[in-house]
Amino acid sequence: MRGNSGGVHKKMKEKQEKDWGNMADKFDENTIYVVGEAICEEISERLSQEKELGDVVEFGCGTGYFTKAIAKNARHIIATDVSKEMLEVAKRELKDHRNITFRIANCKATDSPDKKFDAVLMVNLLHVIKEPSCAMDESYRILKDNGSLIIIDLTGCGMKKLEMLKLAFRYIRKMGKPPKTDKGNLAPKDLEVLAENAGFEIEENKLLGDKIKALYFKGVKKCKK
Ligand SMILES: C[S@@+](CC[C@H](N)C(=O)[O-])C[C@H]1O[C@@H](n2cnc3c(N)ncnc32)[C@H](O)[C@@H]1O
Repeated sequence: MRGNSGGVHKKMKEKQEKDWGNMADKFDENTIYVVGEAICEEISERLSQEKELGDVVEFGCGTGYFTKAIAKNARHIIATDVSKEMLEVAKRELKDHRNITFRIANCKATDSPDKKFDAVLMVNLLHVIKEPSCAMDESYRILKDNGSLIIIDLTGCGMKKLEMLKLAFRYIRKMGKPPKTDKGNLAPKDLEVLAENAGFEIEENKLLGDKIKALYFKGVKKCKK
């Protein structure tokens, strides 16, 4: 029984990685079609205001679209993803940035030593993974004391019903059915609970965007007593 369910789980994981890989070449184009340029620009602009980030690890960097926004303000970035195809696109897109290296890694369990990074970044990752609490715990483990956790996640929270319907239509048209693990609509309260359970103190937790919304969250690692 056990061996069998492990096999099923492994196959599902491989399928998910393959699905992301298949999207890699058109991912940015399709994302902009679905959510529009305005929210992507607003996220990039807000991210670029994060100064002196130090040594950063990004989980689920995809094509590196948002990695670019923090490149100037970080000493070094390790951009990671489970999909090698996504990382290949990211390497191509970010080839002029000397302070970025790329690695395959699962955000739920990396091989990083404890307390290695000044900041962890995750953009549009938490809502697509099955156990977001594992990514929060892993972030906590690998952050230095007082290190920053920055999370951005597109969300239906705060959106008008009609806009949601239009977005869902555009999504299905371009990307097909969302993955089974897709939770879609994380709210600030969900992030608050996830972050506090993992041991983070919340610095910022709000919605960005006009018609299309994204959560912008910033937390600090405080030592657990
Ligand atoms: C919705 S895309 C977001 C990509 C990018 N951050 C962006 O916002 O443009 C989600 C990304 O997370 C990656 N991913 C999915 N599960 C992951 C996991 N467990 N660990 C690390 N990356 C993962 C996928 O391969 C994909 O590149």
